[in-house]
Amino acid sequence: MEKRNLIDITDLTTAEIDEMIAAAEDIIASPAKYAHVCDGKQLATLFFEPSTRTRLSFESAMLALGGQTLGFSEAMSSSTAKGETVVDTVHTVSCYADIIAMRHPKEGAPYAAIQRSEVPIINAGDGGHNHPTQTLTDLLTIHRELGRLTDLTIGFCGDLKFGRTVHSLVNALSRETGIRFVFISPEELKLPDYLKENVLKKYNLPYTETASLEAAIPELDILYMTRVQKERFFNEADYVRLKDTYVLTPEKLVPAKAELRILHPLPRVNEISTAVDNDPRAAYFRQVRNGKYIRMALMMKLLDLRA
Ligand code: NCD
Repeated sequence: MEKRNLIDITDLTTAEIDEMIAAAEDIIASPAKYAHVCDGKQLATLFFEPSTRTRLSFESAMLALGGQTLGFSEAMSSSTAKGETVVDTVHTVSCYADIIAMRHPKEGAPYAAIQRSEVPIINAGDGGHNHPTQTLTDLLTIHRELGRLTDLTIGFCGDLKFGRTVHSLVNALSRETGIRFVFISPEELKLPDYLKENVLKKYNLPYTETASLEAAIPELDILYMTRVQKERFFNEADYVRLKDTYVLTPEKLVPAKAELRILHPLPRVNEISTAVDNDPRAAYFRQVRNGKYIRMALMMKLLDLRA
């Protein structure tokens, strides 16, 4: 079989994503069926940047499939500290593991890594660029919550400039029908032009941009909240000025639809009040759970394994 990687969400066709969503649903319904699919397989998680959910959900997913995990969660505990290139580090680990999930602060690093890897590489986030496995998690969540990936008005709120989860999800949803985007951000954190040119224009997608969360809320089916990406700012003062631009509270949700679903890739800093957590429309912790199941489906696909 030809080696498959997942670096950009468009490495998967929409049909493959639909299949993976169906596989994740089956895993959720009958987990015991999948307990030995990855017996004898090893996942390496190479995290050159901090993570809680992404790394642990990958590890939990491989363990639930009967496989094992190895890796590092801090670049400075690896030979990166001695000056090794990411290409050599990944090449080395590909001699031990059957599949690699990597996160790196440099945009495009996984493209360099795939050149010498002997095993499938999964991009678990590259700088302010892409985060395709969060997108698979988001798509599974939308599908489970609303029963469809089409005919949606989806609002993205917060840091649309540096938020890699936003970039990948915009890319993925642009291939579905009946999608309308509402981009809610301060002027400085608007969606990058390259996405408007290469994705929104290409698919001729309707979208609006606004600075007002309150104005946007009543029309939304999905509200995708994001954290202002502190680590990508050049200037601390700009971060401090922008970080609390949006705080979702129960009061702001009063005019929202009953079917609205609130997503957030997490971690949350201040942008969703904890008072929202008990609202049935708050789907972000169900989203966390879905992340494990879709990663199980993804690793089975890339390793060409079936239950
Ligand atoms: C996101 C990320 O790393 O880009 N987190 C995640 O993987 N769930 C979002 C963020 O850090 O804000």
